[in-house]
Amino acid sequence: MMFARAGLAASASMLLAGCAATVTQANTAQSNAAAAGADPLAVPAAAQVHPEKWPAPQWKVPVNADHEARIKALIARMSVEEKVGQILQADLAAVTPEDVRKYHLGSVLNGGNSGPYGNDLGPAQDWLKLADEFYAASMDERDGKQGIPIVWGTDAVHGHSNIIGATLFPHNVGLGAMRDPDLIEKIGKATAVEIRVTGQEWTFAPTITVPQDYRWGRAYEGYSSDPALVASYVGRMIKGLQGPVDGGPMLKGPYVLASTKHFLADGGTTDGRDQGDAAIDEDTLIRIHGAPYVPAIEAGVETVMTSFSSWNGVKIAGHRGLVTDVLKNRMNFGGFIVTDWNAHGQLKGCTNASCATAVNAGIDMYMAPDTWKDLYASLTAQVKSGEVPMARLDEAVARVLRVKMRLGLFEAGKPSSRPYSGQWNLLGAPEHRAIAREAVAKSLVLLKNQGSLLPLKPGANVLVAGDAADDIARQAGGWTLTWQGTGLNNSQFPGATSIWKGLETAVKDAGGSASLSPDGSYTKKPDVAVVVFGETPYAEFQGDIQSLQLKAELTGPIETMKKLKAQGIPVVAVMITGRPLYMNPALNAADAFVVAWLPGSEGAGVADVMVAGRNGQAKRDFTGKLPTAWPANAVHGGPTLYPFGYGLSARTAQPTWKPLSEDAGIRETAENGVYFARGVPASSWSLIVAGGSDGGTRITTGSASALDGRVTVTPVDYGIQEGARRFVMAGGGRQVVQLNNFTPVDVSRETNGEVLLLTTLRIDEKPASAMQFSLTSADGKTATVAAPELAALPVGEWKTVAVPLQCFRAGGADMSRVSTPFQLETAGRVTFSLGRVALGTVADVTVKCAG
Ligand code: BGC
Ligand code: BGC
Repeated sequence: MMFARAGLAASASMLLAGCAATVTQANTAQSNAAAAGADPLAVPAAAQVHPEKWPAPQWKVPVNADHEARIKALIARMSVEEKVGQILQADLAAVTPEDVRKYHLGSVLNGGNSGPYGNDLGPAQDWLKLADEFYAASMDERDGKQGIPIVWGTDAVHGHSNIIGATLFPHNVGLGAMRDPDLIEKIGKATAVEIRVTGQEWTFAPTITVPQDYRWGRAYEGYSSDPALVASYVGRMIKGLQGPVDGGPMLKGPYVLASTKHFLADGGTTDGRDQGDAAIDEDTLIRIHGAPYVPAIEAGVETVMTSFSSWNGVKIAGHRGLVTDVLKNRMNFGGFIVTDWNAHGQLKGCTNASCATAVNAGIDMYMAPDTWKDLYASLTAQVKSGEVPMARLDEAVARVLRVKMRLGLFEAGKPSSRPYSGQWNLLGAPEHRAIAREAVAKSLVLLKNQGSLLPLKPGANVLVAGDAADDIARQAGGWTLTWQGTGLNNSQFPGATSIWKGLETAVKDAGGSASLSPDGSYTKKPDVAVVVFGETPYAEFQGDIQSLQLKAELTGPIETMKKLKAQGIPVVAVMITGRPLYMNPALNAADAFVVAWLPGSEGAGVADVMVAGRNGQAKRDFTGKLPTAWPANAVHGGPTLYPFGYGLSARTAQPTWKPLSEDAGIRETAENGVYFARGVPASSWSLIVAGGSDGGTRITTGSASALDGRVTVTPVDYGIQEGARRFVMAGGGRQVVQLNNFTPVDVSRETNGEVLLLTTLRIDEKPASAMQFSLTSADGKTATVAAPELAALPVGEWKTVAVPLQCFRAGGADMSRVSTPFQLETAGRVTFSLGRVALGTVADVTVKCAG
């Protein structure tokens, strides 16, 4: 690894010296510079790679002659259809063992929201049972085809995190704060064992992204913004998961396949947008985002997942230069490359149903959750027509088979017969929980400790407040049991410990008393209060934010801190968060401030550091260090409050606190995705009543009248005074309320992410005729969705009604250029009040749509 780092440095300097050579290299070296025009693999100059500038790891998978002979023989016997099946991965929600038998699929996965037999929260036993069924189907040779064992991939990204009862380790951002590569390996191994209990063989982890903008909702999946810190973990995590490099068949030991993701620069996109574009030069791409792939390959990582995102405008899964010329040829990656969830459908010239480009670029397996059957047909035809060269297909199949052989899958027998299978006592085993608890304790970062308030003194009467104190789902974050980690409660985490429970036990053990009171109220004045607060769970897309601020609705506990402080009670703030946020008000309000990140199931690790035992000492001191800088205001790229590597020990007294500025540095504008709130449209947006022959009436004043008096508008209270508008419509023809903007907005990734258009309204008089929502894109296309649900709403109550953005896409609108996201229309009489129009995920009622 030392060697590889030197290689990186050398390549960076070569790049600086080598500018003049760029043009000719681009023409000669690679496929991606290919001729113009129709070639779907051609890329613009800014997205051309120069493989010779990339580091070449000092390790290459050794050739196993026996494996190679078996692979050759197998491929010779496989039909085109069998080969295509082998490079497809279907999601549990859209595939049955019978499908596997018939189509000879190479792999299945469980997406964030799917589990065995249609139950995302299915018991561990069901996972193993279904694994056996898939295995048996894949080995069935009654149709005269080759039996090839199937491999099942799962997002065990912080422990075996889809399974009830599994140990949940801190998410990667917390592990980055811990600075302990030895413990990383132990976490990898414990995770692998738990996966083996339920019969899967492959985890889509570790995420080795190097996030550069923490507004990205997946930033917490990365260890650090520092490539060297990420690189120092990668090899150890892979060793923990897969075992030592070339250590023989993994399934004989307690191991599974790992997958480093998301190749490449998923953490480098502009504004931290999920699935966005990394507009950076090749040197930066190599130095920051490429760095962790060197130790990954040296540790023998068997699979790599490509990113949804692009580099300088070219989606990675279709970038032959990066996938083939760099990763496979230059960096000696010897495993197979899998795409992300239907990412192939986003490539130029591709649809979810058909995409030769990805395999032609060099990917070896399509993650085609619900689209595998279409791809099976289209790829088969593309191979037969020569659009996908047979040699490329054979190479992809060979890579998949090679990995399966190194895994030991051919000899392993059915999942339930393998070592560790069905040993339910290993799920959430005490020895695994102990590792997680240690990781939690080591990941805590102490930012403030006035008057040496921490550790809490033995015998103290402790009040534990805050809405996150007794909420394990909140500690666990996204990618926990459900995709976004939402909709869960403590009963779904058997064996886990909330931060409150951990504190209660430790405080009592030290002779004190503890009480839980989320709103901070008490009967007997406590000696000290701990307020646990912070972010709620999120994952892809839904976690992206506009500025580095805690959502307004989550800041209540900061008021609680101020209140307690004013009552003369010393306050310790404990923040649950996936990222550093502007926190000056809380930092000022509290006497001590601990960042707990997303600690997972072992909340007791927090108390290990925060609470002193009877001897006056805590089990361990704070040693966590920031894995990325902490901001002084809410602006990305703004001033730093605490640098990377900052973190106090509780043993050293801190100088007297100087109050921090409480200016977030952000102009008060409507947050991203809020089109109407507080009675007014977002700035630069217009609220219009239309329906006649003209362009409609723009509503600027509080009260207004439009459509020759058929519609009157008045302000009404909602949340705040005049926080909504009431529309009294007399009927007698079209009447439309709409929100417009001259600059179209791109909501395509929100559409992919199953985000909803939410309208909060109150029906004041039932509609006399049908109502409908529509959305118009800049190309003039309008998609309309009938909303009979509105007539069924109770009169006089505020309700939030959702229309899935996907309904509008299905209706033909261009979601990448939306000019009017909201139109509510009816021809008859109705009175309603409009409170809020915004993108979001939680509603009272969801409008049904075809599509
Ligand atoms: C995510 C991946 C994940 C996959 C399977 C994708 O949407 O980007 O990180 O492994 O889904 O759930
Ligand atoms: C799945 C996730 C996947 C996501 C991508 C969800 O429905 O459950 O696993 O990552 O879709 O869009």
